[in-house]
Amino acid sequence: TPRPILIEGPMPIEIEKLLEKLDNMEKETSGTFEFYKGTIDDYPVILAKTGKGMENTAAATAVAIERYNPIAIINQGTSGGHDPELHVFDIVLGKRTTNIGSLKTGHRKDGEGIAPKEWKPMDLMASEGSAGEDPDAESIRYYEGDQDLLAAANAVKDQYTKGEVVEGTIGSADVWNNEIDRIQWFHEKYGTSVEEMESAAAAQIAKAYEVPFLAIRILSNNKTNGGEYNPNTAAANQGYVLEVVKQYISTL
Ligand code: 5AD
Repeated sequence: TPRPILIEGPMPIEIEKLLEKLDNMEKETSGTFEFYKGTIDDYPVILAKTGKGMENTAAATAVAIERYNPIAIINQGTSGGHDPELHVFDIVLGKRTTNIGSLKTGHRKDGEGIAPKEWKPMDLMASEGSAGEDPDAESIRYYEGDQDLLAAANAVKDQYTKGEVVEGTIGSADVWNNEIDRIQWFHEKYGTSVEEMESAAAAQIAKAYEVPFLAIRILSNNKTNGGEYNPNTAAANQGYVLEVVKQYISTL
């Protein structure tokens, strides 16, 4: 049998719509992680409910890779806008994904306070030595979206009518940023289009196992232009991801 496609989502509302489209469904669990095995267009697919956040996502991704040997991984769900040009219901294809919680602070003495704009990116994958001391680790680690998955996503983008589909940079951390100046700092320094709490963790583990990866994230909110949170975006994204998966399957 062919290697399955792994589709991940953090919350129930971020997998429910895809679950309805899965034929021959069987549920398996590992810890708190839920894996729904089935088929789409007669091709094997694993739909994973990872839970929210970086740790859940990294662990669920590693378990799924070991258990199911996926041919490709899509991490999908909602996000918050960092780019004022993007609106609620627009979708970002993760041409790049990066961890925006991996930071090194400046050197400040007792009583000298806190200066977040001085913080530097810290790349934990730069070397096997101490990331705190290694100047080479003061750079941004970007995980590249897989070209074939990106091509499949771009091939069906006209079928999505609730907003725009664009390529961009997805920033992840276990942080929900509501400070506009901080959001702008990430947008300028990292080039982030959106933020969320999972994609970079999945990308890092996918890379560790050399499994092709793409994050597909819809804006459910955008602080930078007053875009109010809309939970219906989660379902809209799954509708688009279904088309991407079907397109990708047709190329296998
Ligand atoms: N900041 C951080 N996470 C967000 N999410 C949606 N919008 C944002 C945002 N502005 C997603 C995360 C996580 C849940 C809290 O919602 O990926 O799963």
